[in-house]
Amino acid sequence: MKIAPSMLSANFATLADEIKEIEAAGADYLHIDVMDGTFVPNISFGPMVFGALRPMTNLVFDCHLMVQDPERYVEATAQAGADIITVHYEATKHIHRVIQQIKSLGKKAGVVINPGTPVAALDSVLPEVDLVLIMTVNPGFGGQSFIESTLTKIAKLKALREEHQYHYEIEVDGGVNAETGRKCLDAGADVLVAGSYIFNQTDRKAAIDSLRP
Ligand code: DX5
Ligand code: ZN
Repeated sequence: MKIAPSMLSANFATLADEIKEIEAAGADYLHIDVMDGTFVPNISFGPMVFGALRPMTNLVFDCHLMVQDPERYVEATAQAGADIITVHYEATKHIHRVIQQIKSLGKKAGVVINPGTPVAALDSVLPEVDLVLIMTVNPGFGGQSFIESTLTKIAKLKALREEHQYHYEIEVDGGVNAETGRKCLDAGADVLVAGSYIFNQTDRKAAIDSLRP
């Protein structure tokens, strides 16, 4: 399993140091939450900010685009050094096309669904994607409580992957701590995103280690 600390909960005044710290502590991905104030009711940062961090770390840049019509920003996200670009099913009229666009830029393509969207909505894109992200909170803010009903989606995605020999990783995002993270892993998650749980602890290595079974 992999751990993806979410930069959203880091101290923005000392970002480079925070990222070096979680890299040394054994993080696998850096989860980068791009928010536009339209698709979600919050604004975070964009490619200019994480592009500046790219030369400072070897962590996989796992970019979660919470933006309306993400096709407008996929290219800039790729150029800023993203390794994985994940777009919301709910944010575009052309989810299949955006996924092809991401792949044509040589990046791994992910799709993400909100708590109110069923896994069935993803049927036609599951063969195409490298990652499926299940939102376990409603997107927009760190520090919210895990929504238990999302666990069945993880199990569904795992069963579909086995049945059809799909290759995607299953990632979960929102309200992950040692307890809820364990439930996600038991249900079949491969990657745990955690923001406040990791960055609110002074010992980030202990926090990361506590998410591993
Ligand atoms: C929420 C973001 C998450 C957020 C998670 O919209 O997509 O990545 O940073 O934060 P925690 O782990 O604090 O719920
Ligand atoms: Zn996220």
